Amino acid sequence: MNIRPRRNRKSAAIRNMVEETQLGVQHLIYPIFLKDGVGIKEEVSSLPNNFRWSIDQLISEIESCLKLGITTYDIFPAVDEKLKDKTATYSYASDNFYLNAIRKLKETFPEICIMSDVAMDPYSSDGHDGLVENGKILNDETLPILVEMSLAQAQAGVDIIGPSDMMDGRVGVIREALDAQGYSDTSIMSYTAKYASAFYGPFRDALNSAPKSGDKKTYQMNPANKREALLEAQLDFEEGADFLMVKPALCYLDIIHVLRENFSIPITAYNVSGECAMIHAAAQNGWLDYDRAVMETLLSIRRAGADGILTYFAKDFATIIKK
Ligand code: PBG
Repeated sequence: MNIRPRRNRKSAAIRNMVEETQLGVQHLIYPIFLKDGVGIKEEVSSLPNNFRWSIDQLISEIESCLKLGITTYDIFPAVDEKLKDKTATYSYASDNFYLNAIRKLKETFPEICIMSDVAMDPYSSDGHDGLVENGKILNDETLPILVEMSLAQAQAGVDIIGPSDMMDGRVGVIREALDAQGYSDTSIMSYTAKYASAFYGPFRDALNSAPKSGDKKTYQMNPANKREALLEAQLDFEEGADFLMVKPALCYLDIIHVLRENFSIPITAYNVSGECAMIHAAAQNGWLDYDRAVMETLLSIRRAGADGILTYFAKDFATIIKK
């Protein structure tokens, strides 16, 4: 044997030298659930270590996350059922609690980067990402609502708008509206290849945002499709997206890889709630080592080609690498 790959694994020094993939806290975006009120810190039962926060509590949480080096946060409001309606008007009501909270966060921590979600589901009485009429999800009629929501979020100080709705053409109309209103510096991270997945359950528990009827298969992608992800990516790129996101991450590492090979803008991946819950559940049973499983999971997403990763493990990861 003149070639022995094990020689390059014989010590930590050599292993570290030849390590191909870097993973640091700078690559992570931390999704946070927000709730109206004061003094609230409620754990999401299907998503251990993740909470619904009221803004006063969230401020001290972000202080501790900043000490761990987490700089980017994606804010998801849990909206009271009473405030939901057919057209998701609460999503852009200018004095609503989540826009006020975003303003407060930007004022308190000017250095942080805030991402937001654009889709109707958390504000819609139908629980769908778009406008529902006779059981159909209307595309073009949804676009102006997404635009209103995006403008309200940009005005509140959001740095990265995250359209997660999968309506056709939304990145283009959002980009145009942002530019027309003077928000040309506001970025768009498009949920480009977002699949109709079984892994969103704990998130929908956290926000009580599951569809009231039907499913999301007429707008979210079929898990069987890969070429279609290239089409979605091409459209979002041409419409002006700054980042292309794949969601979920783990069952779709090949999609992350193919977008990375075909596009020059940053690729991100959403390590979704169900993926996080699975690891927690197994670790709680003593079936696998939580810290190692978290590291390996996030590393695999980076290795597949993601520049950034949205993950509920962000704080635990940052804590693990500190020790
Ligand atoms: C809203 C949205 C969802 C997620 C992010 N934004 C739920 C859905 O599309 O049903 C899921 C995130 C997760 O599961 O962690 N459209």
